[in-house]
Amino acid sequence: MADNQNLEVLQAPGTVFFIFGATGDLAHRKLYPAIYSLYREGKLAEDFAVIGVARRPRTPEEFRSDLYDSIQEFCRYPVKDGEEWARFAEHFEYKSLDIHNVDGYRELREHTEAMEAKYGIPGNRLFYLALAPELFGSVSLNLQKGGMLESGGWHRLVIEKPFGYDLPSAEKLNEELNQVFKEEEIFRIDHYLGKEMVQNIEVIRFANAFFEPLWNNKHIANVQITLSETVGVEERGGYYDHAGALRDMGQNHMLQLLTMIAMEPPSRLLAEDIRDEKVKVLRSLRPYPTEAEVKAHVVRGQYTEGEAGGKVLPGYRQEDKIDPNSNTETYFAAKLYVDNFRWAGVPFYIRTGKRLPVKTTEVVVEFKSMPNNVYLGQKHTLAPNLLVIRVNPMEGIYIKINAKNPGTESEIKPLAMEFCQSCQVGINSPEAYERLIHDAAHGDSTYFTRWDEVAAAWSFIDRIAEAWAKAPGEISHYPAGSWGPKEAEELLAQDGFKWWPVNGQEEDNVIWIKG
Ligand code: BG6
Repeated sequence: MADNQNLEVLQAPGTVFFIFGATGDLAHRKLYPAIYSLYREGKLAEDFAVIGVARRPRTPEEFRSDLYDSIQEFCRYPVKDGEEWARFAEHFEYKSLDIHNVDGYRELREHTEAMEAKYGIPGNRLFYLALAPELFGSVSLNLQKGGMLESGGWHRLVIEKPFGYDLPSAEKLNEELNQVFKEEEIFRIDHYLGKEMVQNIEVIRFANAFFEPLWNNKHIANVQITLSETVGVEERGGYYDHAGALRDMGQNHMLQLLTMIAMEPPSRLLAEDIRDEKVKVLRSLRPYPTEAEVKAHVVRGQYTEGEAGGKVLPGYRQEDKIDPNSNTETYFAAKLYVDNFRWAGVPFYIRTGKRLPVKTTEVVVEFKSMPNNVYLGQKHTLAPNLLVIRVNPMEGIYIKINAKNPGTESEIKPLAMEFCQSCQVGINSPEAYERLIHDAAHGDSTYFTRWDEVAAAWSFIDRIAEAWAKAPGEISHYPAGSWGPKEAEELLAQDGFKWWPVNGQEEDNVIWIKG
C-alpha cells in the first residue's frame, strides 16, 4: 500500500533500471534511497527491476545487504522490515562487469531478459551511468554492441554532470553519445532541477498575479543567487582541483537557477517549450569577451586556513589530493546581465563557494525602492521589498514589505512574511533524485538539460575560464568560515547594492511573521 495517500500518484511504466557504478557513493547515498521512496509511494509498482553493475564481485546477498544499509541511512522513509523488504529487495540483482568488455554486456543481456520475463517488463531499459564522465561514451557504445538496445521497449540514458570540461570536450562527448542515443533518449542530470523549490519557481512566477506583472526591469532592481556550502572539498580533491567552482557549480546549477528566474513564460508547459525559453536566457547572457571585462565582473577566491564553530579548518592548498600551489577557485561571484527586453539593465549577482559560514541556496529578488520624494520616503528610510526563494536546506519563500510598527505613532518597519514549507509537519519533500528518476522513466525531460542548454552554458563559462587561465595567480583569498573575498562585496557596492543576508539572518529590526 502506497505511503502518500493524499498525493497524486503517477506510476512509472514497467522498467529495468541499470545502475552503472552500483557500488559507488552516488548509488549508495542517492539512487537506492530514491528508488525505495518511489516504491513506498506507489510510483513504482511490482513490474520493475534494478540491475546494479560494477566491476567488483558481489553476491546477491551482499548487494542487498548494502542496499539495506544505504536505505536505512539515507532514505526519508524508514525501512519496513520483514516481508515487505524482502519483496522490494527481490527486484534487485547485481552483475559484476568489466565495462570495456563487450562479452560482458551479452551476458548482461541474457540476465536482463530473464528479469524482464519474471516481472512482465516490456523491454523498457533505463541506463543510469553513475560513472566517471570519461566512460560515458564507451559504455554507450558497448551497450549497443552487446545487444542491450535490442529489446522491444524504449531505451534511455541518464548521465550525471559534469558534461564535459569545456565546450569542445562537451561537443566531443555529445557526438559519442549521439552515435548510440538520440537527443530525446539522453537525460542529462542537473540535480538542482529536481529540487522541489527550484521547480516551484515556475509556479510562484506564473501562477501569481502579485509577481509576474512586476517581473521585469521596471520593477526589479537586482537578483541575487547564493549557493553557499560549509564543506570543503572532502574526498573529491582529485576532481575538484581540476574543475573549480566555476565548472563544478557555475556552468550547471547556478546558470540553471538563473534561467528559471529569468525565462519568459513558455507557450505551453511542455518540456521542449520550457527548455526553449531557458536556452534563450543563456543566449542572452552578456558575454565578457576580454580579460578586463572578466576581471570587472567576476571575482574568484580560494579559501585559506580559517575557523568555524571553534574548529580550525585547513586551507584549500592543505587539503587531501590538492596541489599545494593550486590556484583553483573554491569561490566565485559574478555580475551577469540578461540582455533582452525584460531584463535590460538588471544585474544578476551570483555567488557560490566552499567553506562559507552556512549551507544554503537562496534567490533574492530585490524590487526597486519607492520614490524618496513622496510623503513616507521623506520621513523614513524605506527598505526595498524583497522576494526570497529558499531552495535548501530550508524550503519556502518569504516576502519583505514595509509596514507600520504596531503601537507606534508612525514608525515604519520591514516585515518579513514567511512560508516555510520544510517546517510544516507532514510535508516531506521528495529528494531531487526521486523526482528525476521518476521523470526519466516517464520520458519527461523538462527538468533535464538539453544539449543546446549545455552548449550555451559552456560557451559563456569558457570565456571566463580562459581569461582566468591567462592570469592564474590573480586569485583572492578568504579564510575558511568567512563569506568570501571582499571584492565580492564591492561588486554590488559599485552599483549601490549589498548582498542580503541569507538564511533569515536578517537585520534586527525586521518583524517576522512565520507560517
Ligand atoms: C554538486 C557539486 O553538483 O553539487 C558539489 O559537484 C556540491 O561540489 C553539490 O557540493 C551541492 O549540492 P547540494 O544539493 O548539496 O546543494
